[in-house]
Amino acid sequence: MKPTIVLMPGDGIGKAVLPESLRVLKAAGFEANYVDGDIGWDFWCKEGNPLPDRTIKLLEQHRIGLFGAITSKPKDAATAELAPELRGKGYTYYSPIVGMRQKFNLDICIRPCISFKGNPLNFVRRGKDGVVEEPFVDATIFRQNTECLYSGVEWTNPPDQVYEAFKTHPKFKEFTKVPREDLAISSRIFTRGATRRILKTAFEYAKARGAKAVTVCEKPNVIRETSGMMLSEAKKMAADYKGILVWDTNIDAQMMWLTKNPEDYRVIVAGNMFGDIVSDGFAGLVGGLGFAASANLGETCAVFEPTHGSAPKYADLKPAIINPIAMILSACMMLDHIGEKEKAQKIKKAIATVIEQGKVRTYDMMRLTGGPNVISQGAASTPQMTDAIIAAL
Ligand code: NAI
Ligand code: MG
Repeated sequence: MKPTIVLMPGDGIGKAVLPESLRVLKAAGFEANYVDGDIGWDFWCKEGNPLPDRTIKLLEQHRIGLFGAITSKPKDAATAELAPELRGKGYTYYSPIVGMRQKFNLDICIRPCISFKGNPLNFVRRGKDGVVEEPFVDATIFRQNTECLYSGVEWTNPPDQVYEAFKTHPKFKEFTKVPREDLAISSRIFTRGATRRILKTAFEYAKARGAKAVTVCEKPNVIRETSGMMLSEAKKMAADYKGILVWDTNIDAQMMWLTKNPEDYRVIVAGNMFGDIVSDGFAGLVGGLGFAASANLGETCAVFEPTHGSAPKYADLKPAIINPIAMILSACMMLDHIGEKEKAQKIKKAIATVIEQGKVRTYDMMRLTGGPNVISQGAASTPQMTDAIIAAL
């Protein structure tokens, strides 16, 4: 039976890259039914909801989504763009991708950052004798996707009950000297169940890949309760995984180590905020946003997306110039998820071939400043990159 996939191109370059991934899926022999899911800025402006209920229903029904990117703006900027007839009616903008992760409890986010041989954007460093080294990076980041600072439990000028509750904490005393309207509080919430689920996924992956360690990248020395819970649960869980160590690094130090010894980290696990940060850091070592794919997995639903956003400044270029590889790799993660591992492997091999041959490169791979002129400077357009991948298939 063919799977049905909910397509959510979203905004900006999401609209350009998603169809490219479909061309590759088709060329690899993957057959599916596709249905269109509305999401993003236009729906916020027109309907006051960037994630309409009809899209949620489609995901409930079909359980697999392929997502491009959306445009998100701060609260006030969002309100200013709402259709005039909707203003003042209590609509508040929330990022639909964050909303989708929470709605479907897509609590597991997996972000592989693996070098492609010959990628001119691969990280290089100066080694001992001044030689330039290009370490092979093969790190996969497991990011808790629904909690932490992204839980949305936050206030500016907190209401009485919240304020009183905070006052019961001795460390809050300093903050009572500040006028309440000058206080902004965002809560960092971890739950044991969700923490254990992300850890478990990371340990299982480490076991399957023969990785010697799972690195918990948090900051338990300072953020003792939440980061502390993740580290202590990791240590407990390690007892079930003989031969896999728990490495404990702090997010700040980890960002520095990224450029020192990235090849030492295979499996990284972190809460939502630090997972977001460290995954972009690792993505930068393997080519940046044009190469960074991700899976958002829940118990009933899974959504696959490149980690990049809608890059509005490139949204309207014809032909498109952005790199479709992140989106295509995200589609490969979808194939892996639904058991089409061979097709995923085939596509990844084709991408590797195109990168290694180096004849077709998008503007980012040529280190050009993006814009309409990149094509005349020898950069491949988005569809040309896709064509090359399909040819290599
Ligand atoms: P962005 O990821 O859209 O773009 C940053 C820069 O990265 C671009 O200007 C471009 O130079 C480069 N880039 C991104 N994707 C690329 C690709 N496929 N190929 C080549 N170069 C690429 O992030 P930015 O500018 O911070 O945000 C733009 C909008 O996207 C905002 O509204 C933001 O809220 C939203 N956003 C949405 C995300 C999502 O849908 N999951 C994630 C991140 C940002
Ligand atoms: Mg991010």
